[in-house]
Parts: sequence; structure tokens; C-alpha cells
Amino acid sequence: MHSGKAGAAVYAYFKLFNSIKDEHEVELARLELESLAGAVEPVRNFADALREKPLKSLVNTTQVTLRGDESDTVRFQDFLTHELAYGRVQGFVTEDIKPRDVPRLVRKLGYTREIYLVDERTSWKTFLKAVLPQGNVGRNCNVFFSKGLVAVRTITNQYFLENSEYVTKVTPSLERSQVARFADSLFDNLMRHIYRIPASGKARVGKRFLDYLAERGEGSLYLSHGLHPYKGKFHPKMTRALVNIVRPDDKGTIVDNFAGSGTLLVESCLMGFDSYGIEINPMSVLMANAKCALMRVKLGDLDEAAKKFLAVLHSELELMQQQSDGQATLETMGYPPESAILEEIKSVAPDVYDDFAPKHVLEEIVVARRVIEGEFEGDIRDLLLLGLAMAISNLKGKKNKDFQDQIGSTVEDIYRRCYLFNYLREVLQFDVGYGTSIEADASDLRNISALKRAHGNVNSPPYSTALDYIRNDLAQLALLGMVKNAEGLRELEAKMGGNPRAEYDTDAMHAKVTENPAGLPDYAMVLIRLFEHYGKSNHAYRLYEFFDLIKRSFGEQMRILEKGSKIATVIGNNHFKLTDEVDALGSSGIRIGEGICPVEVHSVKNNMKPLDVKPITGESLLSRYSGTLPVKVSVSGASASSAQDGVYVEVENERVILLLAMMVGFRPCMVINRYIEKTLRGNIRYESIVIMEKP
Ligand SMILES: C[S@@+](CC[C@H](N)C(=O)[O-])C[C@H]1O[C@@H](n2cnc3c(N)ncnc32)[C@H](O)[C@@H]1O
Repeated sequence: MHSGKAGAAVYAYFKLFNSIKDEHEVELARLELESLAGAVEPVRNFADALREKPLKSLVNTTQVTLRGDESDTVRFQDFLTHELAYGRVQGFVTEDIKPRDVPRLVRKLGYTREIYLVDERTSWKTFLKAVLPQGNVGRNCNVFFSKGLVAVRTITNQYFLENSEYVTKVTPSLERSQVARFADSLFDNLMRHIYRIPASGKARVGKRFLDYLAERGEGSLYLSHGLHPYKGKFHPKMTRALVNIVRPDDKGTIVDNFAGSGTLLVESCLMGFDSYGIEINPMSVLMANAKCALMRVKLGDLDEAAKKFLAVLHSELELMQQQSDGQATLETMGYPPESAILEEIKSVAPDVYDDFAPKHVLEEIVVARRVIEGEFEGDIRDLLLLGLAMAISNLKGKKNKDFQDQIGSTVEDIYRRCYLFNYLREVLQFDVGYGTSIEADASDLRNISALKRAHGNVNSPPYSTALDYIRNDLAQLALLGMVKNAEGLRELEAKMGGNPRAEYDTDAMHAKVTENPAGLPDYAMVLIRLFEHYGKSNHAYRLYEFFDLIKRSFGEQMRILEKGSKIATVIGNNHFKLTDEVDALGSSGIRIGEGICPVEVHSVKNNMKPLDVKPITGESLLSRYSGTLPVKVSVSGASASSAQDGVYVEVENERVILLLAMMVGFRPCMVINRYIEKTLRGNIRYESIVIMEKP
């Protein structure tokens, strides 16, 4: 046992979130801990740890900070063994935590839910002050004292942030003041209510809220993250762990050069970093900027702006209604829905125009947009525009569109999220970094003067067969005037990596695929030429353009990142049918013209192949991902009539990513693979995290 001197290392037990489902998450939990705090050992069973020193001495001890409620009788071991993770690892332990590191662990860890710190002390107050100077006893920590040992139990910020999603979920129809009440309940939950029986379906909303907290759920739409839908975004917790792995320091600038809806930006800001996003789609840029804005606007300013916006909008729409009813009005509209704007929308997206045109909804939306643009600026304008975008998204395809009702509730939702964020920040006392997303092409950032230097990068490029981001957001892009005409839309689509609807100049692309001016690695070129040869030219060309984009974007990150900085890229593999002709595959490889392309045939059960989720590092990384290994294929369909019959090719995007990054000078550090549950039977069967370093 340690001496108990101030500053000396102490024992720390890290209890993982009980929502952990996969082994790779345990690995991420370990990696982020080791990055921030040094080596840790797994705790396979906290019940066993309670039989050993030092926890043994704390068994049956109750809190010293009596609250006068049921929690006074909760014993140390009850807290420790409450809601443990399933699986073979429940947490981690080290004997070697420096007290000064504890506040940053509480603030930054993604997969750890509770930390227990134990040391020999005579005064629990001095120990608490040493490990958690800003600890809020009874709100995010409690203290146990027994036989000269002090234990501090503290809950990580991630727990409160993630579960605040349920506060938002249960309060939209309640009075504003109820948000604070439920936030209090959130803070009380792990401190007081650990013995509880689930409520019946008819129970009052307060009881049902506690049930939500007891679920093994994993909120990913909390606070800013819940603003506006976006398919294919990062899971916040994983993002947080990756930031911890690429940038263990407390300050610096983190970049996501395929920023999308801004998940990385939000988490980085919550962790105290500044962050930059680069993103080609203006709608995604707005999402990311508004999400960051929510964490820095003054609540009072937002409230005032929201009231003013809704009041001006209401009077404008009333005037519009009177005019359309043929009434003479004394006032004229300040922001009429000019016909030029309506025509613009029609030319960009005729379907959107038709969907929103009936009953003046289109005009109402244009008026709202003009009011926001005319009356507000900066962060508030971004937030109100995103509120408008959310209203548009909610009304898409609906027959009955009540725009005024929708915009009222989306603006209120933004206010409440901002309120809740401020509430959490006040209790947990953390400062927030500055995040911003810039509309630009990740392949060329030379003109982005704001982004000169960065200390880490976490990104997820759009894959070679991305979601159709532009189609998903076309209504918002058109109605908010982000795309002005059909030509503008085509240009945006052309710059969009992995766009599934991209059209190619076949001759020019054939020449590229033959000559390889981008200098793509052999492995990538073999895949691309195979697809072209078997008549899947569109796919071949999209792959070529995608890998070219990735290579250039790595080149730009190489320029921007400081020496020693790390870059983590999350990428799914692709699994494509190459041909229906199973006999194209011979014993030595697959036919390609006169030649034979060597392949490795894999057996795939239920469209899955076994995957090693342990991080791959060092020598095994280089041999596993060498550029010369044969292409992996699988053959499917035993029955002659099966539509699935054919030869399937595995496009190991992670291999290409690693090779491309090495080509521009990055040093490979680690690859972590994980299954993707939702798409087991789809094109993407596993996802990889590729971590590289700028030497
Ligand atoms: C997989 S998404 C990223 C999602 C993001 N991690 C999140 O959490 O929201 C990929 C993003 O890359 C963007 N993108 C595609 N081509 C790009 C390019 N050339 N430059 C910058 N961004 C691009 C897409 O618009 C899309 O938002």
C-alpha cells in the first residue's frame, strides 16, 4: 500500500459502461485508459477484487457524507457491483494513478462510467481535494472511509452527458422548468437510487425516466448530437476514445477532414480541445457549426432570439395570409417569398418543390429563411437555420404539413438542449473548446488560412459507396438556398467522394485506370482493374476516384499535422459481387483477360468471416497489410437458381487506407477491427480503425 503522501500514486478501479456489447469496445476502453493514464490490468470480476486488498477493507462500509436518504445504507460493494458490463472484462485497475490525472480522466474517458480511487489516508477531505478538487459530493462523487483507507467513487462526465438524452426525451411536452428537475434526477440516479424496481408502463414520467437510466442503452443523440438527423455518423463514445488515443494531452486542435454532422467536433469541444471540420456538403457544415454553437451561445441570447424570430415570423405569415385572402393590409411584408427564390428552388429540386408547394408551406419556409437571414447573424443564425432545417426534415413527405407548429417545436428543442447543456456544465464544471466546420474539399486545403496546424485527426471518409448524402438532404439544401441551381447541384455531386450517383467520362476514366496517374498502390489497382474487366466499370471508376481523394486528403493532413501527431481513420470494408460466373475462379486465381489474378479464397458463413478484434500492431500489422497480398474472394450459392450465386470480392478499404497513408509519409501504428451489426448481410461487413502517426 502507498504511503498516503500528497501527490503519491493511488489505486484506481475503472468500471466500464454496462452498455458495452463488443470485445472491440473493451479494447478501446483499455487503449484510451492507457493513453491517458499508463498501463492498466483488466478486472474480470469486481466481486473477486472485493476479496483482495485494498478493497477488502472497504466491504460493508457506507458513505461518510450522509445525505439523509436511502443512499446512506448503500454499501461500498453495492455501488461497485451495481450495473456491471456483460462479458469477460468489467473494468480495469492500476496501482499507479497520479491524483492530478484524475480530473482529466473523469472529464475525458468515453467507455468508463465510474472511477474508484483508494488510498491510505487519515482525512477523507484531503484525499478528495487531492484527487478531485472540483468534485461535487453527492452529485458526481461520494466518499467511503474505513480502517485508515479512503475511497472516492466518482462518475465520469460521459455518463451524465450520454444519459441527458433521456431528459430531452421525456420533457418536450412538459413545462420548461421540468428540464431542471429531470436533470437533478439524472445527477441523483447513480448516487441515490441504485436499488429500484422498474416502473409500470402507467407510472408517472419521473419513474419512467429512471427506467430509461436503468436500461443498457447507449445514448448517441444527447445535447448537440440530437440536432438534426444524419445517417452514418460516428458514435460519440467511440469518437471520444479515439480522441484520447490520438491526443492524450489536454490542449490542442483536433481535425476531422470529413466532418459530416460534426460528431468529432462536438466531442472534442466537450473534452476541451479546439476542433476544425472540413466538409464538402454545406448542409452538413451548417449542422456541425450549429452543434458547436449550441455549446457556446449565451442561453439568454438564444431565448431572446428565438422569441423574436417566432414573433417576426408569425406577423409576416399573418400578413401573407391576409394578402392571399385578398384583404387590404396597412403594412407590407418585410420578407416576402420572392418568386425568384421559389423559381430557384424549383430548378434545383422539382420534387422538393412539389412536395412542399401545397397550402403555401413552401412560401412559409422561404419567409422563415429570409427572416433568419435578415435579422440574425453568427452562432444564433446557424442555430435558427438548423431549427428550420429540422422542421423541413420533419415535414418531408408528410401529407399534412403544419409548418408553424413544427418550427415552434424545433426552436424550443434547441433552447432546451442549450439549457440542459449549461446545467450540466455548471454542475460538472468543464470548459468547452471552440469548434468550427469549413466548407471545403478535403483533397486541397491550401486556401484554408484558418487551418494551419493541428495536433490530431479523427475522421471517417465516405467509403467508395457512400450513403447518398445529397439526396438525403436535398430538401434542406434547396429550401435553405444552399444550392442555387441545377448546375450547382451537379458540381456539388461531382466533388462528393463516393457519390453513388456519380457519372463518369468512360474514356477518360479508362485511361486513368490504365495509366494510374494518381499513383495508387498495386493492391488497389488490381481490384479496380478486376471490376472494370468484369463490366462493373462504374464501380471501378468510383473506387479509383475515392482512393485518389483519400490519398490527396492524407497528403493535406501530412502538411497540417504537427510532427508526432496521430490520425485515426474509421472505414468499412466493401464486399461486392464481381461476376455471376462461378467458374471464372480457377485453382490458381481468377481470370482477367489472358492472365490470372492470384486470389485467396475465403469461406464466408452467413455472409460473415471470423474477425480478430484485438488491435493489430507492430510486425503483424506490416505483414497483415502488406501491399502484395492476393485479393480476397469468396464464392457463394450452392444452388444453381440462387440469385446470390457468384464470385464476391472483398475490397479491404482499411488495407488501401493504410498503404495510401504510408505513401504520403505516415507511419502505421495500429488497426482495430469490429463487426457492424446493422449491416451483417449488407455490403459492409466490418469496420476498421486505422491509426497512423506523422513521424
Ligand atoms: C461518413 S461521413 C462522416 C460522418 C461524420 N463522422 C459524422 O459523425 O457525422 C463522410 C462525410 O464526408 C463528406 N465528404 C465527401 N466528399 C468530401 C470531400 N471531397 N471533402 C470533404 N468532405 C467530403 C460527406 O459529405 C460526408 O458528410
